[in-house]
Amino acid sequence: MTEKKVLVYGSLNLDHVYSVDHFAGPGETIPARDMKVSCGGKGLNQAVAFAKAGAQTYLAGKTGSGGDLLRDTCREYGVHTDYLKSCSEPGGHAVIQVDAQGQNSIIIFGGTNRMQTEEEISRVLEQFDGGDFLILQNEINNLPYLIQRAHERGMEIVLNPSPWEESLRSCGLEQVSWLILNEVEAFQMTGEQEPEAVLDQFRRMYPDMKIVLTLGEDGSMCQSSGLCLSAPCVRTRAVDTTAAGDTFTGYFFAEILRGRTEEQALRTASQVAAITVSRRGAAAAIPYLREVLDEQERN
Ligand code: RIB
Repeated sequence: MTEKKVLVYGSLNLDHVYSVDHFAGPGETIPARDMKVSCGGKGLNQAVAFAKAGAQTYLAGKTGSGGDLLRDTCREYGVHTDYLKSCSEPGGHAVIQVDAQGQNSIIIFGGTNRMQTEEEISRVLEQFDGGDFLILQNEINNLPYLIQRAHERGMEIVLNPSPWEESLRSCGLEQVSWLILNEVEAFQMTGEQEPEAVLDQFRRMYPDMKIVLTLGEDGSMCQSSGLCLSAPCVRTRAVDTTAAGDTFTGYFFAEILRGRTEEQALRTASQVAAITVSRRGAAAAIPYLREVLDEQERN
């Protein structure tokens, strides 16, 4: 049997990360204790998480000025970059405040991430077959076209509806196999606060869709084929929560591709997300599978 491939079609951002005592409020000017530029973007972070977890991973998207660092970083972590395009327009970037508790507040500028054309999408998807995984987030344009074409090819579509926007309701959600989201996005989509009510609502709206719900300190849940599973959160001292959700997504589905049960996948993804939040940065903070296995052996 040939190994299934993972195609992450998504954003690449240069993250400008400012360490602050608290987030700047309206009309307030605050000093930053430190500033770093590093590689991020939900697409890049999730692709790096898949690759570090050992999956055969391709990242498709578009970089602009400053894109060489993003491309080199992907290669360094084992992500295939054959389907990355570059152009001279301003690229995607993020302004991230990280406070003393490790929480973040993010502004993104889409730039070239929002310049994916239908022709480019079709050419990339032609290289993938039924059963290959397509991983999407909401930081690029043309999602409805991507979902429709990937569905026609029989790909298994995973959507992380982050950041949430009402327009996502008409992006072809009924063709999505898996939805992975946090409690804030779940509330925005369903209007429900309680996890059980959220999952009930999803069952009614999309009976065949599998749902993975991350709940911060309350752990995570997975609803599939009428069954509901949960896993506790792995506690750690948070230094920077950036990319915790992206790490969870990459590791959860890399475990599923490796044939692990959903419960095992939830547990591993929670453990790995905890390692990521104990380190600074986005893609760079995501651990390799070897480190994760070593930690599992020690515990
Ligand atoms: O999920 C974290 C990511 O969100 C950051 O790396 C930033 O670029 C934004 O896309």
